Amino acid sequence: MENNNDTSAPQLSVPSSEGVSEKFSLDDSTVHVWYCSPEQIKETGLVGYYYTLLSNEERVRHGRFFFERDRHTFLVGKALMRITLSRYAGLRPSDWVFKASAHGRPEVKLSHGMLQTNINLSHTNGMVACVVGIDRELGIDIEDTRREVDAIELAQRFFSSSETTALRRLRGDALRRAFFSYWTLKESYIKARGMGLSIPLDHFAFEIGLDTKFRIAFGPEHPGNSADWQFVQFAPTPHHLLSVCVHRPGRPDLALVVHEGVPGPPATD
Ligand SMILES: CC(C)(COP(=O)(O)OP(=O)(O)OC[C@H]1O[C@@H](n2cnc3c(N)ncnc32)[C@H](O)[C@@H]1OP(=O)(O)O)[C@@H](O)C(=O)NCCC(=O)NCCS
Repeated sequence: MENNNDTSAPQLSVPSSEGVSEKFSLDDSTVHVWYCSPEQIKETGLVGYYYTLLSNEERVRHGRFFFERDRHTFLVGKALMRITLSRYAGLRPSDWVFKASAHGRPEVKLSHGMLQTNINLSHTNGMVACVVGIDRELGIDIEDTRREVDAIELAQRFFSSSETTALRRLRGDALRRAFFSYWTLKESYIKARGMGLSIPLDHFAFEIGLDTKFRIAFGPEHPGNSADWQFVQFAPTPHHLLSVCVHRPGRPDLALVVHEGVPGPPATD
């Protein structure tokens, strides 16, 4: 297994609420994370506005959810992606066109004169989040850490042997925290690669040290250069854990700017 010994600390801004119509800028040395709780979004006018943003295909998917909570989370996720992109570019949220990759990742089809904009979305019980950047692979995963899991059983089935061994030393809350730490890191990498679970989760491993650095190590079945990848993790609430993966070959760590708030119509809309 390969190891990344880079010890420079990632930059992470403190989450804060943002004005809904403010414009933001994106450059190739930063990536931005936006997150919000769908449960805070109840106002019918805003929910109706979100629906107007969806493509026909997204409306079909929206109509297929059995549970209202899942339908609402899907809607807020799609609105968050579209409104987030429009915060950085002079395009209305409803104008963004996404094309699904071979493994189902929605990718921005037209960047309208900008560098290629990359965005990735994640949702879990009580939270949606996306990461946006330009010209690089990005992945994000958020999980509700109250979720009932048999950590050791899942680790044995899906994680690498080094991760399972590390988890076996832990009990109680420490085990739960470490399990979700591995899970979100691994999913963020899988999502940055855009290939879903066609990359088996035991073909790469994370080392979780006492510092806040997360290092990926690749097994022989899935070779890669650990130093090319940056991982950042934080807890937006006491029971949510979020990991971001950024591909930044040949560069120092990028700054991660975090924004929390309910997505509303941006200035251009
Ligand atoms: C689909 C997958 C990419 C992420 O699924 P997930 O973690 O359940 O869901 P998330 O909410 O984090 O992400 C879903 C979003 O990722 C995006 N997405 C879909 N396919 C993707 C892909 N191949 N790569 C990156 N992103 C993708 C979509 O925007 C999707 O949202 P949408 O369905 O509203 O369009 C995939 O990795 C998967 O199926 N994971 C299974 C999770 C699991 O069982 N892990 C075991 C850990 S023990």
